[in-house]
Amino acid sequence: MQTPEKVALYDRLGGVYNIATVVDDFIDRIMVDPRLNANPRVDVAHHRVLPAGFKYLVTEMVCWAAGGPQHYSGRSMSDSHRDLRITPQEWRAFMDDFQQTLNKFSVPQAEQEELAAIVESTREDIVVASL
Ligand code: HEM
Repeated sequence: MQTPEKVALYDRLGGVYNIATVVDDFIDRIMVDPRLNANPRVDVAHHRVLPAGFKYLVTEMVCWAAGGPQHYSGRSMSDSHRDLRITPQEWRAFMDDFQQTLNKFSVPQAEQEELAAIVESTREDIVVASL
């Protein structure tokens, strides 16, 4: 018999339509966050990448990481973020935006924690060690 914990996070979130909706709100939020755009390298890149493609890649990645059938086709997290020199403070602002989006869509606590753990697992590829 299947226990509820065995259901993939992807399915508990409601699949690609729900995940893409959450990513859409989240990317809109981070692209205008002054705490992130205070980093001039982030500001420039946020204005260079087109939101639809950015949302597409992040949706692919989250779906894949949550156990969905998608495959992430973008660059590695270290390649795409290395030159941005993201600080621990910027990381905190990013996680705060993430929390706000999850709260807006009333994502349950257990799923919020699993999603946060997925995002946190990329931290060492994204945040510069010291600044
Ligand atoms: C403070 C945290 C972060 C900031 C400020 C940030 C900012 C950015 C920016 C500006 C780009 C465009 C880079 C370029 O094309 O030159 C980018 C790319 C990307 N980011 Fe982040 N990011 C952060 C964290 C994350 C995290 C935690 C994830 C996923 C878990 C993520 C997923 C992606 C993806 C999938 C791309 C596209 C890669 C590609 O172009 O192939 N980012 N990010």
